Amino acid sequence: MSAAPVTVRAAAKINLCLGVGPVRDDGYHALATVYQAIGMYDDVTATEADGWSLRVSAHERIDVTEVPLDDSNIALRAGRLLASHHGLDRAAALDIDKGIPVAGGLAGGSADAAATLLALDRLWRLDTPDEELLRLAGELGSDVPFALLGGTARGDGHGEQVTRVADAGSWWWVVVESDIGLSTPRIYAELDQMRGDAVPDPEVSVALLDALAAGDSTALAGALTNDLQEPALHVRPDLRDVLALGVAAGALQGLVSGSGPTCVLLCADHESAQSVRAVLHAAGHERVQVATGPVAGAHVVTYA
Ligand code: C5P
Repeated sequence: MSAAPVTVRAAAKINLCLGVGPVRDDGYHALATVYQAIGMYDDVTATEADGWSLRVSAHERIDVTEVPLDDSNIALRAGRLLASHHGLDRAAALDIDKGIPVAGGLAGGSADAAATLLALDRLWRLDTPDEELLRLAGELGSDVPFALLGGTARGDGHGEQVTRVADAGSWWWVVVESDIGLSTPRIYAELDQMRGDAVPDPEVSVALLDALAAGDSTALAGALTNDLQEPALHVRPDLRDVLALGVAAGALQGLVSGSGPTCVLLCADHESAQSVRAVLHAAGHERVQVATGPVAGAHVVTYA
């Protein structure tokens, strides 16, 4: 009898700080970042099959037309990588149900890759050690190891070396999605153009780590940073209004998420987040939601 399908859920990430250093020999930029997983999710269901296949469905607010359905899709790449890592000639049918916007700066593709690694590990009963799964994840993309880990963690290297950090908070975010996605390589290239050659090594600020450890939302608001924000705002100047409107409505601070265009607004509590959401919605931003963080990394939700 074939194994029952396995569904794994993986969360969106935001970067509480994103320090981008010099370009490395491998073409990536050195990063010093702190990730937080927030409560927006993609589900991946893996079913035994003779050949690889991929289906993508989504919540009605999400446009999936830009998701590649061929072998370049990161979930299919994850599946093939896990099979070849174990020397297996096996395949699976993957169904992705997206709740994370595409090309939004929330690492939705990375969530799919992480969910696929875990779903296939369980479906095929491989018991891959965590360190090996994290290493494979790092081969797939900079944000994929964090999507496995979840919670709040710093990311070094090009983002793939993840270490948990102390986080005493339960943070309230208003997440403002955009109609059109932004290409991550384009925003990195924009940053390279905006600054000179002498780029210092990036660092995570002590103030940010202290704010997290203390659960102090005012201090965290003062410590949020993102080196990709200026290049993202250069390409999408309209996002300045989103950030300003959120802060005027009562948010403690606003930030472009990763390479954008999603904007996140840190709020003091649930009530404040609801009222900031309502103001943005009334101003014509249809896709605005409240999300909390930190939440768990990729985890099994059903063995159907
Ligand atoms: O690792 P990932 O595939 O998600 O990265 C997507 C693109 O973002 C890379 O191809 C690169 O252009 C850019 N990037 C970078 N430095 C990083 C992470 C990503 O230049 N640390």
